Parts: sequence; structure tokens; C-alpha cells
Amino acid sequence: MKNKLIVCLLCGLMSASFTAAKKPGFAVWQLCAQGPSQMNSYVFVTDRGRVVVLDGGTAADAPFLRGFVAALGNRVDKWIVTHPHVDHMGALTEILKDPRQMIIDTVYQSPMTDEQLRTDMNRKKLADAYYEALRDSGLPVVNLTEPGLEMKIDGMNLKVLGVAHPSILTNAYNNASIVLRVWDRKKSMVFLGDTGVESGKMLLEGTYKPLLDCDYLQMAHHGQQGCDEHFYKSIRFRACLWPTPLWVWNNDVGEGFDTAYMKTIETRRWMDEIGITEHYISWQGIVKIE
Ligand SMILES: [Fe+2]
Repeated sequence: MKNKLIVCLLCGLMSASFTAAKKPGFAVWQLCAQGPSQMNSYVFVTDRGRVVVLDGGTAADAPFLRGFVAALGNRVDKWIVTHPHVDHMGALTEILKDPRQMIIDTVYQSPMTDEQLRTDMNRKKLADAYYEALRDSGLPVVNLTEPGLEMKIDGMNLKVLGVAHPSILTNAYNNASIVLRVWDRKKSMVFLGDTGVESGKMLLEGTYKPLLDCDYLQMAHHGQQGCDEHFYKSIRFRACLWPTPLWVWNNDVGEGFDTAYMKTIETRRWMDEIGITEHYISWQGIVKIE
């Protein structure tokens, strides 16, 4: 596996370079889990030093993320939440309840319907806690109800390719994921969040299908049981971003390689079949791509 820059977990804050992107455009870090859970967390910094966070991980990831954002100036221009699962909005929920010195300018999300939220009552409680913390924070919130929003932040471009679709009740939370394209003059990235088979199909059938082709693709749902084989084999990309802890990567919860319930090995096989050789996997450490 080829990696551009792996920052050791233990010395991450010592050796990561907390500066704005050196060339016009942006740099992005894929962070890794600080707790046992899988999580999804990306921090972008533009050539002028503005910061965007995508998800942020679980509550257990909040302390590390606070330090990471503080080192970048402690101001987040845009915080984008793909969907209200705790491995995506748990850290933000903690930060909203106790922001300390962190300034967040705007939160972007895509609202799920009550019917969708009620498809999983246990997770609804956690989603409600996030919504309550967001409401109590008084922060400006942009609720995305359709794809197409395009934003330019210094040399970084963002376009929303997918949002929650009210008709999808299967795997409703994951399928509600915002899908985001981020690019500059040098590179393009697509972040799928936890997109499932159903919303993946809608993406392939939608207007923005050509914009799914990219240099770096974030693997849906931590690399397993997200988008299906047809999805991955219908678009073109050069490298994979895996927000995936080791136990998910190996489908191993203690009984050995590929013995648990996850489908990661199948996704890894698809990537081999496509011919992808460039992988950035979060269990290996923080990676910075510029
Ligand atoms: Fe997730």
C-alpha cells in the first residue's frame, strides 16, 4: 500500500504540519479513531488557512479533534455533517455542548424525515441529542434538501452531489448521507459518507453522475456494506480513502481474519479487480493529502 504521509498516532500532533495548504487549493487530513468505534472525520485547510470539517467522528474523538482544530486556529468556517449517526456527529455534539474557544461559523446537514428517523429508535435518541445540541448552540445551520450547492472557499471548491432523499426508508440513516465533491486545480475527491446501495443507485442515475469520477474516493460506510460492486465499477477513481479501523479492515472482532459479519474483504476484492493500488486507511495513521 502506498501512502503519501502517515503521521504516527502517538506523535501525530508533534509531526503533522499545521499550516495552510502551500499551493493554491487545499490540504486534507483523514483522521483516525481515538476510541474503539469506527468513525469518519476529515479536516480541510485552504491555501488561506480557512478550515472545513467533514463529520468529526465519535464523542471519543472529540478531545483529539479539539486539539487538531485548535492547532489550525480554532475557527471552523464550515462543519458538514453527512448524517446523524454517532460515528459522524458524536464529536460535534460534544463540541456544541462545550465549545470552549472553538468558533464554528456554519453547520451544514441534510435533514431526515421523522419517518426515516423512526426506522431506528435507538439511534433516533442519539440523533435527537445532536439536533438538540445544535439548536441550543444557536449556530447558523444550512439544511440541504437537494443536491447542487456549490461553494468556493479560497482555492477549494465544494459541490454537494447527494443529500437525504425522503423516499428511502431502507438503511435510512446511512442512505441519508450527504455526498460531497471537493477539488482544486491539482486533485479531486468524492466523499460518500455512509451511502448505501439505494442512494448509490440514485447517484448513478442522477445529473451529477459524471462528477463522481475523481482522484480520491472515500469508501462508503467505512468500506463495507455501503455502495455496491456495480456502483464502484461504474465510476472512475485512482485512490481509496478508507475511514476504517483495523478490526473493520480485517473483518475481525477477535476470531480471526474475515470471520465476523462485515463485508470489507469483499470491497477490498472489488478494488483489486478495478486495479486500485493506492489506499489510505485510517487505522494506519493520520494521512495528509495536498
Ligand atoms: Fe459511519
